[in-house]
Amino acid sequence: MQKHLRLYFITALLLLSATVLFGMLASWAFLYPETYNQYMPFYQLRPFHVSAALFWIISGATSCILLFKKESLAGSSSVVLEQLFIYTWIGTIIAIFVCYGLKKFGGREYWEFPPVLGLPLLVSWLLLMGAYFIPLLKTKGNKPMYVWMWTTGMFFFLVTFIEQNLWLVPWFRQSYLRELTIQWKANGATVGAWNQMIYGTSLYLMVKISGDVTKAQGKTVFFFYMLGLSNLMFNWGHHIYNAPSASWIRDTSYIISMTEWLFLIRMLQGFRSTLEEGRKLKHLITYRFLIASEFWVFVNLLLTLAMSVPAINRYTHGTHITVAHSMGATIGINTMILLAGFSYILEIDQKSERIRKTIIANFWLCQVSLVAFWITLIAAGIIKGYRTTALNLTSFQEIMMPVMPALKAFSIAGIGVVISLVIISVVYIRQAIRFKEA
Ligand code: HEM
Repeated sequence: MQKHLRLYFITALLLLSATVLFGMLASWAFLYPETYNQYMPFYQLRPFHVSAALFWIISGATSCILLFKKESLAGSSSVVLEQLFIYTWIGTIIAIFVCYGLKKFGGREYWEFPPVLGLPLLVSWLLLMGAYFIPLLKTKGNKPMYVWMWTTGMFFFLVTFIEQNLWLVPWFRQSYLRELTIQWKANGATVGAWNQMIYGTSLYLMVKISGDVTKAQGKTVFFFYMLGLSNLMFNWGHHIYNAPSASWIRDTSYIISMTEWLFLIRMLQGFRSTLEEGRKLKHLITYRFLIASEFWVFVNLLLTLAMSVPAINRYTHGTHITVAHSMGATIGINTMILLAGFSYILEIDQKSERIRKTIIANFWLCQVSLVAFWITLIAAGIIKGYRTTALNLTSFQEIMMPVMPALKAFSIAGIGVVISLVIISVVYIRQAIRFKEA
């Protein structure tokens, strides 16, 4: 692994640790504001946590692409562009955290840093696109579907990032509704863009583990790609629920987002059922992370299906069920697939028994804690939704009284997620430092 890629890879893992640690602190700050308000209040810890989460996912996804593209694309990549991207990207993330530390905000939901920092992020992304597209354009012949998925994800991330910053143009701010609709639409589409990059990586891993290149070719996988693309373009409908919009827009977007997940489950199941035992054992840890994502796609699908029923959505909207949905997907699906990719890159399955056992034990700790974490968030959401909508309570304190025990249980379950993911990150960082390419 080249030095700059190693640095990027390690940064992504540090971001994963930062995400869970800030998440834990944010949950405590919410529960015990009288203590935390003196040091770091919830409103400061939340952006730290959410931005770290977003940067973990995007940096994790692009780390995998930068490393896998070396083998997938024939044209040699520009090391200078890669380096410039990595240094500007990491430098901007540090600047963003410094701003949060100084309580300097100014951006919008999920990207709450002063908007001027959007500029180096944009430049950085263009450099990454240069480093990826130059070898891509030099590669002749049909490309496997995962290359199409990475390419689409990277291109649409650029589009949605620009869209996210349109509020800086005064015309978009003239109407609150216009600004809010575009903002949330862009947030939904960004998720679609990173999903393309991450699902592309999961397809790449399925091909590598099974040794079957046809998994990334043919009609089925093309259909999957088209579904992902339509998701990216239209699934944001359910992100603008608060804005008045035609019901057909919501219905279409919901149907589209369900189909993509159903299809991902189908592909993972197909992969699992046809995989030879020997190949599975050779890549057991990578395989486990990949299959964990299948479980989380399934349970999130059930939750989202329930949330899409209007009679249920009346109660769930704006409660912790929405947070369960976002964290269920970003931890259960995105983080699991990324850890599968990282395990494959570091050849964790070929490491000593002690390392493998540590990862497997923490893998299970993560899954079990995540189930408790997710269920307690849903319970908090149900109680809050019932008290707000069915009991028509308006006093925040009165609404939250029975919600607090569920949130305390959520916070305790979160400790398991924190411990397991920090240990996995530390082991992977140590392996990345020692990693020598064969
Ligand atoms: C890889 C791990 C994690 C990822 C990717 C992640 C991602 C996210 C995302 C995307 C949100 C925004 C949700 C929304 O606005 O709907 C969020 C909110 C939050 N997360 Fe996490 N999270 C992770 C781990 C954790 C952990 C371990 C804890 C606690 C122990 C935690 C506590 C919180 C809290 C308290 C919020 C704010 C909820 C609110 O505003 O009501 N997160 N997280």
